[in-house]
Amino acid sequence: MTAEDFIPSSDSYLNNSKTIQSGSFTWSSPSNIALVKYWGKRQNQIPENPSISFTLDHCKTTTTLSFFKKEDSNDFSFEVFLDGEKKADFKPKIETFFNRVENYLPFLKDYHFKIETSNTFPHSSGIASSASGMSALALCLMSLEKTLSQAVSEVYFTKKASFLARLGSGSACRSLEGDLVVWGKHEDIEGSSDLYGVKYPYEVHDNFKNYYDTILLVDKGEKQVSSTIGHNLMYGHPFAQERFKQAHKNLSDITSILKEGDLDKFIALVESEALTLHAMMMTSLPYFILMKPNTLEIINKIWEFRKTTGSKVCFTLDAGANVHVLYPENEVDFITKFINTELVAFCQKGEYINDKIGFGAKLL
Ligand code: DP6
Repeated sequence: MTAEDFIPSSDSYLNNSKTIQSGSFTWSSPSNIALVKYWGKRQNQIPENPSISFTLDHCKTTTTLSFFKKEDSNDFSFEVFLDGEKKADFKPKIETFFNRVENYLPFLKDYHFKIETSNTFPHSSGIASSASGMSALALCLMSLEKTLSQAVSEVYFTKKASFLARLGSGSACRSLEGDLVVWGKHEDIEGSSDLYGVKYPYEVHDNFKNYYDTILLVDKGEKQVSSTIGHNLMYGHPFAQERFKQAHKNLSDITSILKEGDLDKFIALVESEALTLHAMMMTSLPYFILMKPNTLEIINKIWEFRKTTGSKVCFTLDAGANVHVLYPENEVDFITKFINTELVAFCQKGEYINDKIGFGAKLL
């Protein structure tokens, strides 16, 4: 499919846009954690390399989109609320999103929108809400498109919602379905696309079913580097081309690892991806160190624990100091104890969030 395939034909809304005056939709959409990372993008939110993520279950955004028909269609008109409080500072990001998707949702200027959103995780937790937030909003807009146009199949709905979510925030296109999602064209993965995320289409060993992710909140502050600035650092980066090649290889490798259930190879690949992401930031100009001393303390504790116990626990990182501790279902009790006795001391105010693999967004 091409981007043009998501532009509705001029007559598709003819009847209903006259009759649908107002309404509302509510979607709940999860966050996700990348195993092979997206870092570097081209124009129009096209990723420089393919990525794959686990969809999460508990870390979610719930968004209600209420709308009513306006008198004119001159401009975008919307207001945003977080936990019932008006958020003027959220508007520029949504305005940018509306500008990017207007071509694909030609009704956007016909309505006034009230966007009410809330997250299951604290706003200041260092957990980005852009993936869950943008995917929830994209889904609400697709529900409206579906009401306006009869020609929306279930498959098209999900693809286009992911396509729109990507235009809001790249990683958001991996947040619609579960439990593993690939985004970015990869020669070994059928159906994969730079335009939207697809459910991972191949066999996954039972070892990876119900995988757990405990997010250790090392630094709950605002992001030091916005993702857009971060991605831009890959332009002219001395190691960029090698990194993009490596991501393609890691995605090929992870397909056999997921099939065979090889946890040792999984650990090596996932931890290397996390450290490579941070290595890219440390070797760009300007350069950044987003890990904190406690991030390193945790990583060392995990390595030591694995060595002494033979556990299959491992870590991954986002573009920040928090640590995602990943472990299989059969180690839940063991790792919970390890976290509570050895890792919690390195978390800000001793806080962490327990999550696990989830199955995607829901219409409420
Ligand atoms: C480090 O999706 O937040 O989490 O497209 O600019 O919104 P934008 O970037 P964003 O980047 C996320 C990068 C990452 C790795 C990943 O999730 O793959």
